[in-house]
Amino acid sequence: MLPMPSRKPANTAPASARAVALRALHRILGQRRPFDEALERDPGFAGLETRDRGFAWLLVSTVLRRLGQIDAAVAACLAKPLTPKAREAENILRLGAAQLLFLGTPAHAAVGETVTLTDGRLRPYAALVNAVLRRLAGDGPGLVASQDAPRLNTPGWLWAAWVEEYGEAGARAIAAAHGEEPPLDLSVKGDAAAWAERLGAELLPTGSLRYRGETSVAALPGYAEGAWWVQDAAAALPARLFGEIGGKLVIDLCAAPGGKTLQLAAAGAGVIAVDRSAARLAQVDENLARTGLTAQTVVADAAAWRPPAPADCVLLDAPCSATGTIRRHPDIPHVKTADDIVRLVPLQDRLLEAAADMVAPGGKLVYCVCSLQSAEGSSRIESFLGRQPRFRRVPLQPGELGGADELITPLGELRTAPCHFADRGGMDGFYACRLDREP
Ligand SMILES: C[S@@+](CC[C@H](N)C(=O)[O-])C[C@H]1O[C@@H](n2cnc3c(N)ncnc32)[C@H](O)[C@@H]1O
Repeated sequence: MLPMPSRKPANTAPASARAVALRALHRILGQRRPFDEALERDPGFAGLETRDRGFAWLLVSTVLRRLGQIDAAVAACLAKPLTPKAREAENILRLGAAQLLFLGTPAHAAVGETVTLTDGRLRPYAALVNAVLRRLAGDGPGLVASQDAPRLNTPGWLWAAWVEEYGEAGARAIAAAHGEEPPLDLSVKGDAAAWAERLGAELLPTGSLRYRGETSVAALPGYAEGAWWVQDAAAALPARLFGEIGGKLVIDLCAAPGGKTLQLAAAGAGVIAVDRSAARLAQVDENLARTGLTAQTVVADAAAWRPPAPADCVLLDAPCSATGTIRRHPDIPHVKTADDIVRLVPLQDRLLEAAADMVAPGGKLVYCVCSLQSAEGSSRIESFLGRQPRFRRVPLQPGELGGADELITPLGELRTAPCHFADRGGMDGFYACRLDREP
């Protein structure tokens, strides 16, 4: 995880933070590299002061969150479209526009420091970048005020899918939520109300804590002694669908980095956590060590691995497009495509079949994905139930989620979206379904 950006960005940071941000943008938008990797692996990133690291992070995330708006505003300030050669300077323009239109950077710093990025072979574009940014400094706010931000910032394939699934108003509400930095949510091992008070955090009806302060995660009370872990409020719901699990055996498939493993262990279950990535599973072990919780961790392909004996409960958090987490990963709309979903569906089906195989007669299976696409959620369960008559859906009951009944679909499945709890800061998009196996 990258350090959270300072909420008070170092707007006058030296050009090196901007240079690091520019290289990261080239990697994300040019080579479809993930955001964290693109920034973290930059040799210059670690060398930046903490404040400048936060500024680089904020620059990149703002460009990604507002890309459609930024490109439209830049286009409106160009006399003619950029030539293919001048496109090399496009990310510089985007960085400048993010500062001028959304970050409140003083115009002299935003223009002056950003123009210095046109060095080396980009030198011929210095005058163009300077002229466009100066124009944006004047005309930008008016242009932004007239933009349809949710539509512009959402790629066409995602917009079409969300309109089909959630209606025009739903798609608009989801996309609008992606414009905001999400809050920090925590899951607590012990007494959530007591920790809410100690941290000055809000206790959400679903049981998670929402922290809005400035302190970094590792410096907050309770982090070092493992009293809580970072987990989005929606991500904390699927593991709760088993109900009472004290003393039961729960198999957690696709477990890393382990938010759900920790929940299951904290609820008193014996947990086997399986993930095919040894590096990611090492994070589960670290989290278990920090929180003093126990679970057995197994590096394996969950589609092929089988437990020594069938389990009371199996949780499958399947790999997916992660379109429910765009608020936290604003690169997703720009690095993923509709083809990724087509490619993931057979894997999700295979993993579901394997998970079903691990459930003891009378046991429970929870399937979940952090995706807003029904192709990865409810459609997978429809198709599974068609093949597996021994399983049936066990609908969530009103009141089961602390009164947040708007998260329960007519079929009794869990469907959260970034626009849920909008007045409290939203939540990630998750789908989950609870099934049981006949005795
Ligand atoms: C959505 S993440 C899981 C998040 C995790 N459940 C949590 O709550 O922190 C998906 C995980 O699936 C793992 N994965 C993907 N394909 C897998 C497979 N065939 N077998 C086991 N793990 C797999 C990935 O390594 C990744 O860690």
